[in-house]
Amino acid sequence: MHSSSTPRVIALTGSTRGIGLACAQAFARAGATVIVNGRTEQGIAEAKAAFPETAQVYGVCADVTTEAGAQAFADGCRAVAPRLDALISCVGNGAWATGYPVPWSEWEGAFAQNFWCHVRTVDACLPLLRAGSPSSICLIGSIAGLQHLGAPVPYAVAKSALHTYAKELSFSLATDGIRVNVIHPGNILVPGGRWEQKRAADPDRIHAMLQASVPQQRFGTPEEVASLVEYVSRPEAAFVTGSAFVVDGGQTTSFS
Ligand SMILES: NC(=O)c1ccc[n+]([C@@H]2O[C@H](COP(=O)([O-])OP(=O)(O)OC[C@H]3O[C@@H](n4cnc5c(N)ncnc54)[C@H](OP(=O)(O)O)[C@@H]3O)[C@@H](O)[C@H]2O)c1
Repeated sequence: MHSSSTPRVIALTGSTRGIGLACAQAFARAGATVIVNGRTEQGIAEAKAAFPETAQVYGVCADVTTEAGAQAFADGCRAVAPRLDALISCVGNGAWATGYPVPWSEWEGAFAQNFWCHVRTVDACLPLLRAGSPSSICLIGSIAGLQHLGAPVPYAVAKSALHTYAKELSFSLATDGIRVNVIHPGNILVPGGRWEQKRAADPDRIHAMLQASVPQQRFGTPEEVASLVEYVSRPEAAFVTGSAFVVDGGQTTSFS
């Protein structure tokens, strides 16, 4: 149980860059102790350097797509604190072949990196989240899991499964005092990320895509996702569970 005099402890998978790092920075700005994660020590060192010196930032290097990796992540978190106030499960990868049929290896890879990793991380971290109760889980999905947008099929299906997992999990964990929500970003411009590369390769096509499919006619920023993730993870959001939110400049019309 968290007391208002001790900092919240927030663990974030997939947080050495991009949306995950922006989330970790938002929590740190709010005074929380944060635990960042990625698959390389170098990535973790670079991520830690992106925080002010006064921030309480720890790193756990682990590949959370494997059972052993997810457990190593949870063990690393336990070495920082005996409880978690929030888990932000951010790992994901949209770089899969488009079209159909989809090679089986692509199905397996897309599900490992967009669905199973979340289940493994949640299961490994449950004892810490129970120790932190009331606590919360925020899963990072994608609007590709809500509507047909032309994303790779196995990515869209895995993100759709994640959406349903969040709903089911929120029921299963409600009486444990653990809230579960899912946030679906739209097109987010991450430094060095996929959209930046696509825009550099064909600026006119990307400009036309934004004009035609995003009412705000622009990319979102990692910080715009992070502020919502930080909000739903706060104790003040105590009645928010089983909810899905989109952050997409109006691209989808779903309120699910
Ligand atoms: N950017 C977008 O437009 C967009 C849109 C919709 C949804 N999303 C979702 O938002 C989330 C973050 O996307 P992003 O664009 O910010 O990603 P990103 O820039 O590619 O960052 C991914 C982060 O996850 C880490 N990571 C990757 N695989 C990992 C694994 N198996 N175990 C542990 N860490 C791992 C990476 O570090 P290492 O590589 O060093 O491990 C990195 O820190 C994903 O779930 C993505 O599907 C993004």
